[in-house]
Amino acid sequence: MKGTIPKCLEEMVRAKHGDAAWKKVKVDAGLAAWHTFLTTEDIPDDTVRALFGSAAKILDQTVQEVMDDFGMHWSTIYAPDIYGVFFKRAANAREMLLSMAEVHRRTTSTVPNAKPPRFSYDWKDENTLVMTYHSERDLAALMPGLVRGVGAFFEERLEVTRRGHRITVHFPDGSTPARS
Ligand code: HEM
Repeated sequence: MKGTIPKCLEEMVRAKHGDAAWKKVKVDAGLAAWHTFLTTEDIPDDTVRALFGSAAKILDQTVQEVMDDFGMHWSTIYAPDIYGVFFKRAANAREMLLSMAEVHRRTTSTVPNAKPPRFSYDWKDENTLVMTYHSERDLAALMPGLVRGVGAFFEERLEVTRRGHRITVHFPDGSTPARS
């Protein structure tokens, strides 16, 4: 997987728990304490999984809690900073989520070895979207936090539930007008 995922995990852990905690996470995951990640490098998927597991252990949280914090940090701080154009283009959370299939295709189409997740969409009713995650990696557990983070970024209430690879997103306030 691209180093952008561990890089964001690093940023989140250091911001919320401090530099020393992140060093311990790396060592627990079998890396050197001084190890740094580049956003464009290839990181073995097992290393990324190990980092989430070690973060849970060192921070005394569940892996799901770490993934939820990761998703919130990704969608509200990390991605708006380095991939800001995609957030500016979307008028609201609905548009942002619907653009995710294309955004993942576009951000990785010229990147060697990238295997981005794909998404398909079904509307259960006009305010309830089912977003299905397709990937070889089986990281669907990252999805609820990432989607909730998109809601937080656009300052919208979203109700998010997951069953396997299907993420149901309910927009209780209906259509949110575009931000000015
Ligand atoms: C502008 C916003 C975003 C950009 C530019 C972006 C880009 C990327 C990139 C470059 C990767 C690594 C792909 C690889 O190594 O093959 C990735 C992984 C991932 N992205 Fe995004 N992403 C964004 C937002 C989101 C959101 C909002 C979601 C969920 C709704 C999401 C779901 C995922 C998941 C689950 C992965 C892990 C890899 C996998 O499961 O295969 N991303 N993303």
